[in-house]
Amino acid sequence: MSVILQRERLGASSMAEQVLRNIGPIVLLGPPGAGKGTQSKRITEHYRIPQVSTGDLLREHVKQATPLGVQIRDLMARGELVSDHLVCDIVAWRLREPDVERGFILDGFPRTATQAVWLDSFLKFEFFETGKWAAWLPIVVCIKVDYNKLLLRITGRRTCPVDGTIYNVYSNPPLVDEICDKDGAKLVTRDDDREEVIRERLDAYERQTKPVAEHYQQLSRVVDVNGDLPLDEVTASIVRVIDHNAESAVGSN
Ligand code: AP5
Repeated sequence: MSVILQRERLGASSMAEQVLRNIGPIVLLGPPGAGKGTQSKRITEHYRIPQVSTGDLLREHVKQATPLGVQIRDLMARGELVSDHLVCDIVAWRLREPDVERGFILDGFPRTATQAVWLDSFLKFEFFETGKWAAWLPIVVCIKVDYNKLLLRITGRRTCPVDGTIYNVYSNPPLVDEICDKDGAKLVTRDDDREEVIRERLDAYERQTKPVAEHYQQLSRVVDVNGDLPLDEVTASIVRVIDHNAESAVGSN
């Protein structure tokens, strides 16, 4: 085998080890339209850890018309938050799946101070005290976006109902209008992406989710990234934060 090929193979394997190491819990925080869902999917692919999106989990309940879905449908369509205990139950159930062992990315959770306190204690008891991880507090990446851009991002959003790929008619359009590049499905607009509802969601973020950032700021766990930048640059910033945190936040199993 040539030296160059050997080096390339070594490089590839150390890269794989690097990416497959323990990552721990990551929280992506930011207002509606900041890019949490978009970036979560990219981070998931990079580190091969699952995305846990409470918005997606709740929308699935609505779509399947489960008893919970029926209960929360109207409230979500108005842009209000679902009650803490319902969301925490869903998250607890999801975080007990085996695929979260190396870490996971929380998108849309925690969203209230109560949820943040609940999460800290859940992670402590389920991951730290069981000896799985050497630390439990999440690293919180806060995506900052200019307020005036958020409205355009949300009204321009289109999502693939099959694989969840997120597009934007202004900044990240599909190759063919309204059709998913990957599977050809017709793209959909979310029920809560209407202009009158968006205001309510942005207000809910200011009122109820800002205290989450404050909670983690007091614990020195928050790093801001500039979400106004192009998608690849935002992803690179988040990867830098996670890489920097990974070694200190999580011990080896
Ligand atoms: P949820 O689904 O969590 O929605 P959200 O927080 O309002 O956030 P969005 O999904 O609107 O935005 P995003 O930040 O993911 O942006 P995206 O990547 O799509 O919650 C929905 C509802 O569920 C809530 O209102 C509530 O009712 C309920 N809920 C959920 N979690 C809950 C909880 N924990 N407690 C209680 N209730 C809960 O990007 C937006 C657009 O911008 C896309 O079109 C994208 O292509 C584009 N874009 C992204 N990044 C860039 C960039 N860098 N440059 C240009 N365009 C970009």
